[in-house]
Amino acid sequence: MAAELTWLGHGSWKIAVADTTILLDPFLDDSPTAPVKADDVEADAILISHGHFDHVADLVKIAKRTGAVVVSNFEICEWASARGVESTQPMNLGGSVAMPWGNVKMTLAHHSSGLPDGSYGGTAGGFLLTLDGAKVYFACDTALFSDMSLIGSAGLDLAVLPIGDQFTMGVDDAVEAVKLLKPKRVLPAHYNTWPPIEQDANAWAEKVRSATDAEPSVLQPGESISL
Ligand code: NI
Ligand code: MN
Repeated sequence: MAAELTWLGHGSWKIAVADTTILLDPFLDDSPTAPVKADDVEADAILISHGHFDHVADLVKIAKRTGAVVVSNFEICEWASARGVESTQPMNLGGSVAMPWGNVKMTLAHHSSGLPDGSYGGTAGGFLLTLDGAKVYFACDTALFSDMSLIGSAGLDLAVLPIGDQFTMGVDDAVEAVKLLKPKRVLPAHYNTWPPIEQDANAWAEKVRSATDAEPSVLQPGESISL
């Protein structure tokens, strides 16, 4: 059964694979663009890329209500455990874990990871997921880096890239990232949440089409694609 990805605005995603629901970086209650609230989502697993508020905001609330396992770097798993989250799967850059629903590899990201209360949040990462044989790469918050070509050598069915600029890659670097990653399909994220990261995603998609072989799709918050 194909996995289905739903954009929850900003860097937040819902991934449905078979009977499992996975959330990535849930930032819902305080997000201007999220189509759902934290109390209204189900989760079996919650993946967290790094410690910034726009990625961990609803983590503890959702994990405690649903009992979802939190998959993140060691420091963020410890932080969540100390706040009452019962199930964690700590990992770190370059490592993989086999979950019941697929494989998770934590990839490099060039970004920071301080937690909202000032705690040390380890190192920011991205995720390479293998879901029913499909390879999906979430760059999460990062600058462009040439080792994306190593991540792409896995053979990506889909890449999800930030395009907002200022805090992450912007439009032009995200086109360069597509050239390095060589995914079949690509989605933009982490833009149009607030004025500083407003971007024209359709203009980005046109650049991707003219410069690469990847097929870009621009979703609105709440919209889904199937792999
Ligand atoms: Ni960040
Ligand atoms: Mn962010």
